[in-house]
Amino acid sequence: MRLSMGSLTGVQRVTAKSLAPGNKQAVVIAVAAQKGGVGKTTTTVSLGAALARYLGQEVLIVDLDAQAHVHLSLREMVNAGGDSLAELLEEPTTREVAEVAVGTKIPGLEVTPGCPELARAENRLSSRIGKELVLRELLTVSRTHYDIILLDCPPNLGNLTINGLVAADCVLIPCNPAMLAVSGVEGLMGAVGEVQAALNPALTVLGLVLTRVDQRNAATNAMIASLLAENFGDLLSSVQIGADAALPKAQLAGKDLFAYDPHSRAAGQYVELAEWLLARVASVREPVESAASEDEVASG
Ligand SMILES: Nc1ncnc2c1ncn2[C@@H]1O[C@H](COP(=O)(O)OP(=O)(O)O)[C@@H](O)[C@H]1O
Ligand SMILES: [Mg+2]
Repeated sequence: MRLSMGSLTGVQRVTAKSLAPGNKQAVVIAVAAQKGGVGKTTTTVSLGAALARYLGQEVLIVDLDAQAHVHLSLREMVNAGGDSLAELLEEPTTREVAEVAVGTKIPGLEVTPGCPELARAENRLSSRIGKELVLRELLTVSRTHYDIILLDCPPNLGNLTINGLVAADCVLIPCNPAMLAVSGVEGLMGAVGEVQAALNPALTVLGLVLTRVDQRNAATNAMIASLLAENFGDLLSSVQIGADAALPKAQLAGKDLFAYDPHSRAAGQYVELAEWLLARVASVREPVESAASEDEVASG
């Protein structure tokens, strides 16, 4: 018997998804950096909360880090329930990321539960065929249920971060004004280039954002900002997040910054950053959408 390519793909693909499609088309944003401690999780959580609370967005945060800092820092806000993301990554499944997520006390914000087993999943992924594409596949229907999906990536360029970059439309890179953190940006940009070339040509760098900027180090900050601007031009966000003790305090209390101290300086800055992000997303999506509507016109 001759096997056609069609029947081969039929054998390999998991059949119908268990999640019914929605009517949205989320932009998927990987928040990534090669280094730890640069503000990835803080930025993911604060942006997610700002987008849901003040800008009317339906947001899903996917915690790809086995350290489970998204859940820890929001533990007083997250509803009970949810399921293991690691299981979805380890074996072929009909389930989707949205099915393991839980709601929060913040209307419009859902998160995947903290999942220490992601460390195990990262290893098991190595032996899966198409290992870089697994998360993208697990988000295909989930994307239709949200406006924005934020992926909080681990602090390395391992399988989970690569899965994040392959699943994403855009990447947002937090960086703090320390020389070592800046040197990590180049490593990440290299990985973004490789992912673009091999697996996800549409991946766009949304921008770099300086976080935890301590105003007492004005000279160093200015030097780092100009170094980044020289290398990355317009990609450097004009909105910076200052060092603000309200952020670690909110995390200790298990609440988002807006529940803990909505009048803090960082709260205002993260709302501004959320507005900047929506404008950037609109500008990177515009060419795609206008090309699509031209196609519609052309095809009558
Ligand atoms: N703007 C900020 N001001 C003060 N502390 C911050 C700020 N952003 C992050 N932090 C603190 O820095 C530490 C590392 O931040 P985190 O977001 O967990 O980094 P990453 O996810 O990149 O490892 C945390 O303890 C967090 O509370
Ligand atoms: Mg983190």
